[in-house]
Amino acid sequence: MPQVITDIAAMQKTVVGLRRKGKRIAVVPTMGALHEGHLTLIREGKKLADAVITTVFVNPKQFGEGEGFERYPRALEDDARLATAAGSDYVFAPGAGMMYPDGFATVVDVERLSSILEGQSRPGHFRGVATVVTKLFNITTPDVALFGQKDAQQVVVIRRLIRDLNFNIEFVVVPTVREPDGLALSSRNRYLSAEQRAQAPVLYQALLLAEQLIRGGERSCKQIVGAMKAMIRSRSSAIIDYVSIGDADTLDEQYECLPGRSLLISLAARFGTTRLIDNIIVTVR
Ligand code: PAJ
Repeated sequence: MPQVITDIAAMQKTVVGLRRKGKRIAVVPTMGALHEGHLTLIREGKKLADAVITTVFVNPKQFGEGEGFERYPRALEDDARLATAAGSDYVFAPGAGMMYPDGFATVVDVERLSSILEGQSRPGHFRGVATVVTKLFNITTPDVALFGQKDAQQVVVIRRLIRDLNFNIEFVVVPTVREPDGLALSSRNRYLSAEQRAQAPVLYQALLLAEQLIRGGERSCKQIVGAMKAMIRSRSSAIIDYVSIGDADTLDEQYECLPGRSLLISLAARFGTTRLIDNIIVTVR
């Protein structure tokens, strides 16, 4: 039976015990509804540490108004089973009242990086993410923390947070796990209608088009973004939120694809009420 811990003090006691025995600890923060993307992080964690803690917490502070906090899928029993089968030693699933008791007042805000791109569409989102991840790091005291490239801006924000707050944590980023047709795995894919699901791979196709254009010598980001938007609009009914070509570390928007640069090409689009994101990193030769 999987070890599910719901109490913060019990989790802390467990990690103190692990540390005393000299065990290396990996943490995989999730909001549950686990799929192959999450399970890949857990499997990678198991290679890098003796004990893997998967956290399952649907964090109210990172959802804006109407962003579906209530309808977010919750299936702790399935999650615990899947996480354990993938090699997780502990599942930490605290309640919201325990994470944010009455009087809770502290926030972690990673400035600038939190307010652009996703942050522009979702004000307060990364403040919620940075705050809960800081708490999860403090509770689980990991040697290694694993995050998915799927959420590229989250990766940049957490990397900055680890540096700025001197967390002594090895930060591991795992490549995006995709369906055979290229659609990035996401708990939100289940909300797509059959027609939307059939159109959704266009997002990845547009990212690959950008890569192909850059490899072919196109240097103008405006041209590339224009071609990506045209492809998405011609092959789907999605409403585009943004298409961006930024520096992979600073997220600064780029005008020219300069040789040697690592570019984060990222986008967000809505299929009906379902908002999907995707990205790739291209290093310009
Ligand atoms: P969640 O969306 O559940 O994702 C948990 C982790 O799984 C994140 O690091 C995410 O990038 C990774 N992930 C999701 N889909 C993936 C895919 N297709 N391929 C690879 N990795 C994937 O991200 C969050 O939760 C929350 O913001 C959290 C960090 C837990 C803070 O609440």
